[in-house]
Amino acid sequence: MPKTMMAVRVHAFGGPEALVYEEIPCPEPGPGEVLVRVHAACLNPPDWYARSGFMDFPEEIRPTLSLPLTPGSDISGVVAAVGPGVTEFAEGDAVFGLVRFPGFNDGGRGYAEYTTAPVDHLARKPATIDHVHAAGVPMAGLTAYQFLFDLFDDVRLEPGDTVLVNGAAGGVGHFFVQLAKNRGAHVIGVASGRHEEFLLGLGVDEFIDYTTTSVEEKVRDVDYLFDTVGGPHGHRFLPVLKRGGVISAVFLGEYRPERAAELGITFVTGQVRSNGAQMAELARLIDAGRVRVGVDSVFPLADARKAHERAERGHIRGKIILSVAEGS
Ligand SMILES: NC(=O)c1ccc[n+]([C@@H]2O[C@H](COP(=O)([O-])OP(=O)(O)OC[C@H]3O[C@@H](n4cnc5c(N)ncnc54)[C@H](OP(=O)(O)O)[C@@H]3O)[C@@H](O)[C@H]2O)c1
Repeated sequence: MPKTMMAVRVHAFGGPEALVYEEIPCPEPGPGEVLVRVHAACLNPPDWYARSGFMDFPEEIRPTLSLPLTPGSDISGVVAAVGPGVTEFAEGDAVFGLVRFPGFNDGGRGYAEYTTAPVDHLARKPATIDHVHAAGVPMAGLTAYQFLFDLFDDVRLEPGDTVLVNGAAGGVGHFFVQLAKNRGAHVIGVASGRHEEFLLGLGVDEFIDYTTTSVEEKVRDVDYLFDTVGGPHGHRFLPVLKRGGVISAVFLGEYRPERAAELGITFVTGQVRSNGAQMAELARLIDAGRVRVGVDSVFPLADARKAHERAERGHIRGKIILSVAEGS
């Protein structure tokens, strides 16, 4: 193993310019971990929240971070070494996963040529896609998977249910659309008009451009709202849900849960977590051709700053990827 590697770190919180491409020591895998030669990593909102010190978050939920930190929880790469006691993977296996999430001080450290990962956070990379696409899956794919099938007793999606996905073209949204379609739901995707073709290609039954059409005036009788946008006006969706419907909120928002309860609407929210077994299930769906990964843009690791600038411009379609190894 090399003694040093290139990585991107934050030494002082700030904008994209806070990301420094530099040479640092190569990590070593501990018990139950593997060392992964990262071929591609992926951006997720927590990367820029951490980069800026969670400054836009209410103080009571702001994590205390130590510097320097290496962002990046999503990786796809090849096992370069195994730590003590590891039998699940061997050197040379192609793997992908959401590494040590939630966790920031001891997070995934994916913006680097090498990182370590607990074996139960990883699965074998899907064989039918390259590392660039595979790196786009972990956090966004697991979020959709866990919010649909794992976290809540109140969410039991049945064939024929009507699902509204707000922020449908984004990282999490485009996986919600596809997983709900796989379950036989009738899916309404809400996004800006530029994403209409992309979302029709992923199988949405109806597309609504929120910049020209008021969702709350047009839609009724929805069983499940998966809202990846949140914000102070989340409650505007209450009229679109039927009695017995569920609002599943991926981000912070004001949903007026008491008013929702009066209307017979349940409100749930939660937190995505690393899970290698569920990554394996996502890999199976990808290799079966039932889930596709949307790639918004690809930047070399050294240009992580430019990738964050792209993220700041918003309107992301699928995932922004950092290419770390040649030919990934
Ligand atoms: N709870 C959890 O465990 C968890 C896990 C993952 C992510 N999250 C949170 O979920 C949120 C979404 O994450 P992401 O990775 O999917 O972000 P993303 O890739 O940036 O996607 C957000 C999408 O929302 C669309 N959008 C923006 N304003 C909108 C509006 N007013 N109405 C409808 N669509 C709008 C954007 O494009 P257009 O405007 O062009 O349509 C974009 O495609 C983030 O806040 C993230 O922190 C939470």
